Amino acid sequence: MSFAATMIYKTSLLLLAFMATTSFASIQKQTYVVHMDKTKVTALDTSLGSSKTWYESIMDSITKFSTQEEEQQETSSPQLLYVYQTAISGFAAKLSIDQLESLKKIDGFLSAMPDEMLTLHTTRSPQFLGLKSGRGLWNAPNLASDVIIGVIDTGIWPEHVSFRDSGMSQVPSRWKGVCEGGTKFTPSNCNRKLIGARALFKGYEAVYGRINETVEYRSARDSEGHGTHTASTAAGNLIPEASFLGLAKGSAGGMRYTARIAAYKACWTLGCSNSDILAAIDQAVFDGVDVLSLSLGGVSRPYHSDNMAIASFGAIQNGVFVSCSAGNSGPSSSSVSNIAPWIMTVAASYLDRSFPTIVKLGNGESFKGASLYFGKPVKQLPLVYGETAGGQGADYCTDGSLSLELVKGKIVVCERGINSRVGKGEQVKMAGGAGMLLINTDNEGEELFADPHILPATSLGVSAAIAIKNYVSTTKNPMASILFEGTIYGGDPAPLMAAFSSRGPSSVGPDVIKPDVTAPGVNILAAWPPNVSPTRLSGDKRSVEFNIISGTSMSCPHVSGLAALLKSVHKDWSPAAIKSALMTTAYTLDDNKAPISDASSGGSKLATPFVYGSGHVDPERAANPGLIYDITTADYLNYLCSLNYTSSQIALLSRGDFVCPTNVDLQPGDLNYPSFAVLFNANEQNITVTFKRTVTNVGKPMSTYSVQVNEPIGVSVMIEPRVLNFKKVGQKLSYKVRFVGLGGSTGSTTSSFGSLVWVSGKYTVGSPIAVTWQ
Ligand SMILES: *[C@@H]1O[C@H](CO)[C@@H](O)[C@H](O)[C@H]1NC(C)=O
Ligand SMILES: *[C@@H]1O[C@H](CO)[C@@H](O)[C@H](O)[C@H]1NC(C)=O
Ligand SMILES: *[C@@H]1O[C@H](CO)[C@@H](O)[C@H](O)[C@H]1NC(C)=O
Repeated sequence: MSFAATMIYKTSLLLLAFMATTSFASIQKQTYVVHMDKTKVTALDTSLGSSKTWYESIMDSITKFSTQEEEQQETSSPQLLYVYQTAISGFAAKLSIDQLESLKKIDGFLSAMPDEMLTLHTTRSPQFLGLKSGRGLWNAPNLASDVIIGVIDTGIWPEHVSFRDSGMSQVPSRWKGVCEGGTKFTPSNCNRKLIGARALFKGYEAVYGRINETVEYRSARDSEGHGTHTASTAAGNLIPEASFLGLAKGSAGGMRYTARIAAYKACWTLGCSNSDILAAIDQAVFDGVDVLSLSLGGVSRPYHSDNMAIASFGAIQNGVFVSCSAGNSGPSSSSVSNIAPWIMTVAASYLDRSFPTIVKLGNGESFKGASLYFGKPVKQLPLVYGETAGGQGADYCTDGSLSLELVKGKIVVCERGINSRVGKGEQVKMAGGAGMLLINTDNEGEELFADPHILPATSLGVSAAIAIKNYVSTTKNPMASILFEGTIYGGDPAPLMAAFSSRGPSSVGPDVIKPDVTAPGVNILAAWPPNVSPTRLSGDKRSVEFNIISGTSMSCPHVSGLAALLKSVHKDWSPAAIKSALMTTAYTLDDNKAPISDASSGGSKLATPFVYGSGHVDPERAANPGLIYDITTADYLNYLCSLNYTSSQIALLSRGDFVCPTNVDLQPGDLNYPSFAVLFNANEQNITVTFKRTVTNVGKPMSTYSVQVNEPIGVSVMIEPRVLNFKKVGQKLSYKVRFVGLGGSTGSTTSSFGSLVWVSGKYTVGSPIAVTWQ
């Protein structure tokens, strides 16, 4: 999903959610996700048969209760939408306020959270990541197809060439998933590649009413495009001659193109309901997926009140790797979502591929832009903008703002914001315009999206925008021309961090650096449903097999596919070990050997760990990382103890009898995370914090690692011991890092960054250090 569209979408969703909760809450019932104490549920399971029976009897009892209480009012039984029993313990139900109150008195009740809507946040990418056919990770023995990726998204287009199963072996016998029928979808739509498909909409329909099957498939079939795109990025077949209308020609394919795909459709026209997503996660873990890919999210919350975090914890308890998008709310700081330490949080960066255009003004000035429009150049034509193009809203080219008289046969300047980027192009075309210059504001900086415009049009950065506005306002007959250059490889340094990519530090969990890594997420080519136009505008009648879109939604499935690749090579690795391998081998230099830059500043500013985490993923190195920082479920729970969570908050996540240890001094910084987030009080000087880490040898049996440190400004870093001598594979050794804040900072919150790297021959095991004075 495009960045602008996501933003607009969010606003209207918020409005709807607001209406639903405020005006009708007192009369209407609302859906709640109810968490129950698993130990109590299990005890009752044996006497009642299943937790569903128990929840049904709870529903019965609270109906009776509320009927007595509200004799005059019309009451109906609470509706049980879902029973969750694999990744979380509890259920989703539509309840009145009184029913909720009586539910709270039931033994085993932990919490009830109102359901909410979340939003959805490649020929070139495998080669850019260093994956080559027949070599390294992509050589035959590693490509056994026993890894299953669950994609929770807008569904899938099952007939797409990316999901054909020719040459694939039988579906693994451990697989328990199904292929559900529905609108234009039958069980025969699945095959040995797409091994499962389910549609989850009970939570969505509880808010918006029954899905209209004439406008949207009430099944796993994708009517949006997003889910087909992400699934093919994670595990689509290698397609040799893929392109978007002739652009980006080359082979398209998933990161783990022999993996199986299971599609869980939980996102619909107006968003993704939390209760449906939880049902998808719960079901996928039960079905037997190895990796979960979620290109969606909401606002960050403490883990005990974040349903995605709770369900993801259940997934990793079951050995399932969970990869999520960081969000598209950059470049504002602390905008990152999906921040729980057991989730892999993925930022987005540019590939070494671009679709450049050249815009020349009548005064001779010229600017570089980007576009997926590919055709004849637009020769010098009159340029109109704002009041020379129409009435109110003409500077943004909003619906109906442009005047046919003023625009016909001319090039129109349109500012980013309000309506979608391709929608502005549609407005210009409808008014008879010959072309469009889509200009960034300060907020987008020099970020250039290549969009599939329906007329000759190009994006331009903020510096071009300033020059063009100045030219138009000071010139009597302003003119411009546009030249489309097609696909260029290796033009600008890559990777470059996308301005839209959400950033840390995480305001909810500042003791962990988020996001964790970056992966390609700008102008990504992947599969697309043939009956959804590339712009999704109703006036766009084009049909494409592949489409190019941008977002952390696109970078997340790259990492999901890479996790599947690592899982097939290292069957015994835990989700935390896979995560560690991807993080400690990530790189922070671009292809010019310069530190990775940030597009939000026009590429003039260097990106930091709060933008890319540990750096850009490097799958070939991740397959053989030397050392890993492993984390057990108990370690995560001890971390929650160190955050002073109450026992019922911890029970939500542990779903067992876990009790915080009282004899040890727990601190959040001791979580065995592969990166270091250090928090200092800005008013104190000379403060010391000491973190402990344990590394496991997964490289050569006899190996000696020595440490190299790049100290953050204002901080002294001491490591003990500075050499680790391993004698065998699987051996664990620990070390301590002491951070001493020297001067402290002046004024508001500031950060500084460094790194800690263990080196042994060809192995380099790196961790970023982010220090924040707050
Ligand atoms: C479903 O959508 C179609 C097309 O927009 C509309 O004509 C029809 O009335 C809708 N049906 C319902 C039940 O809302
Ligand atoms: C938890 O409580 C202890 C004791 O009151 C306190 O020292 C510590 O700072 C608290 N930790 C967090 C993360 O709030
Ligand atoms: C900081 O601590 C060191 C050693 O503990 C001491 O020598 C130094 O004077 C202290 N500096 C300040 C500003 O307190």
